[in-house]
Amino acid sequence: MEERIQTLLREVQDYKGRGKQAVESFRLKFVSKKGLIGELFEELKKVPGEQKKAVGKVLNELKQAAESKLASLTAESEESESTIPQVDLTLPVSPDIGNLHPLSLTRYRIIEIFERLGFNVADGPEIEDDWHNFSALNFPENHPAREMQDTFFVKKRGDGSDQDILLRTHTSNVQIRLMEKQKPPIRAIMPGRVYRNEAISARAHCFFHQVEGLYVDRNVGFADLKQTLYHFAKEMYGKDIDIRFRPSYFPFTEPSAEIDITCLICKGAGCNVCKYSGWVEIAGSGMVHPNVLRNCNIDPDEFTGFAFGMGIERVTMLKYQINDLRLYSENDVRFLKQFQSLT
Ligand code: PHE
Repeated sequence: MEERIQTLLREVQDYKGRGKQAVESFRLKFVSKKGLIGELFEELKKVPGEQKKAVGKVLNELKQAAESKLASLTAESEESESTIPQVDLTLPVSPDIGNLHPLSLTRYRIIEIFERLGFNVADGPEIEDDWHNFSALNFPENHPAREMQDTFFVKKRGDGSDQDILLRTHTSNVQIRLMEKQKPPIRAIMPGRVYRNEAISARAHCFFHQVEGLYVDRNVGFADLKQTLYHFAKEMYGKDIDIRFRPSYFPFTEPSAEIDITCLICKGAGCNVCKYSGWVEIAGSGMVHPNVLRNCNIDPDEFTGFAFGMGIERVTMLKYQINDLRLYSENDVRFLKQFQSLT
């Protein structure tokens, strides 16, 4: 019997199993009541008195060895489980690799172009107060954009105070936030999501994305605005693109202009996208209104600036000839996959 005990002791000491299951089978084989060591204790009862003491001693040693081995195996397996991730590395890799959304592609490209001109990227809140979205931007109190039909108000308009909360209708709010906390020179673009209370159709959506641009410094003139957007259009759409400035009106810029580029669908010949004019609008722009500078504590006699805002959806539509705005937010993989090679 002593010999069997010695053999088991060696087996216990040499046990190499790892992981939860191996630990459990070790416990069942050796340590549990019905295990091999348990059996030996049963047998011990039949051993004649004079030998009992000696055999009992080695058997107890075996029992202790098995118990401490079980403890160390358990600790080891718990440790390895918490550090080694349970990943099956033999699984084949899925050929379905994701890609960037077309709007992200355009946003990154726009940022890239303006960063090279020295513009920083700035950010602002989508839930905004009336001051930053309208009042500071020189919107008169009775401007139609302030009506519920055009703007999503988060809180009901109470007494017409400037503290109303709304979903921003354009990224121009970030101009104000930037000028409030930073003194010129300021040269930044501000991409972000905006919201308008519009019925959803192929040409309009209740949310879309804009990139705002702002450059405020001494001696910034309209020529700087023109050259910057001219450069942008050529970089974005290629050297053959023409650009034109059309007089327009925004409360926060004076003078204001809308910017058109050659229609990329018909190359200027006239089609239903450009309403047979050969031109499509891509941005609003202008020289920052002195009132706006004043509202941000910037002296308009010392500093001037230009600003522009363009729709990322529109820029993307023209670049990739997309004919329905709704495609951007429907998450149809057949649409999204078409941009895989561009990612
Ligand atoms: N905020 C204007 C819009 O949403 C665009 C714009 C931005 C115009 C900056 C001029 C200057 O239509």
